[in-house]
Amino acid sequence: MTPRVALVTGAARGIGAATVRRLAGQGYAVLAVDVAADDPALPYPMGSAAELAAVAGQAGVEAFVADVRDRAALTAAVAEAERRWGGLDVAVAAAGVIAGGVPLWEVPPGQEDAVLDVDLRGVLNLARAAIPAMLRRPVPRSGRFLAVASAAATRGLPMLAAYCAAKAGVAGLVRALGSELGDSGVTANAVSPGSTDTPILTESARLYGLAGARDFAAQQPVGRLLDPAEIAQVLAFLADPAAGATTGAVIPVDGGLAL
Ligand SMILES: NC(=O)c1ccc[n+]([C@@H]2O[C@H](COP(=O)([O-])OP(=O)(O)OC[C@H]3O[C@@H](n4cnc5c(N)ncnc54)[C@H](O)[C@@H]3O)[C@@H](O)[C@H]2O)c1
Repeated sequence: MTPRVALVTGAARGIGAATVRRLAGQGYAVLAVDVAADDPALPYPMGSAAELAAVAGQAGVEAFVADVRDRAALTAAVAEAERRWGGLDVAVAAAGVIAGGVPLWEVPPGQEDAVLDVDLRGVLNLARAAIPAMLRRPVPRSGRFLAVASAAATRGLPMLAAYCAAKAGVAGLVRALGSELGDSGVTANAVSPGSTDTPILTESARLYGLAGARDFAAQQPVGRLLDPAEIAQVLAFLADPAAGATTGAVIPVDGGLAL
């Protein structure tokens, strides 16, 4: 059987890496995409080239370095997946950054730009590059565009205004894409994680002046941080050909955080 083909951004660590592992474990051919370089506008490290190589090596998938802000780079990533495996079935936009910690009007403009350009524009860029490839698959299709939004899409989190705006934008995007894609066989959905144990949460804790990411556990009804694999499991569920009845949906995977 020809494997289903997936492209995952933000693949060097965290939720993206967990999604790569999950999809690879289910037999998908996966292109693991990450910027794999620090952002001079942001005070915390991004995933590294070594982390991306380790994720790809352990999962038995291919690594590809690309910045989701770069449309041409994402087009090249999609072309690489099609060249290697003959098409694309699933695209997961997991790349993301965070900044804030002060009121919006005090956030350095470069940090606000990074949040909006990666967390919102980067998802649009992946949709623009990947959905036409999914539509190039013959009918009947089972293409799946998936984005990682956040509980911040629906909650007004103080000192994270740009992040909330970007994530609410992602929720609006998948609703519109779900309508646009109609009966094409390609669906668009998002998951909204709660506090999940990854480096972005460590940076969030620093922005809020907390001792560490663990301090976020008490705010979630489940009383603990989520494991990235728990988010990946729901993404893999939505990626499945059998999930074609769900489109335009934003699914909380948040331990009850948005309740
Ligand atoms: N961890 C949480 O608590 C949480 C909660 C809600 C939503 N999210 C979202 O989940 C997604 C994954 O975050 P995570 O928790 O795994 O964080 P993370 O910081 O561990 O991983 C993010 C990855 O994205 C990559 N990345 C950053 N900018 C990029 C760019 N321009 N191009 C390509 N790759 C880029 C980084 O190098 C890194 O490997 C993000 O969109 C984040 O906003 C996380």
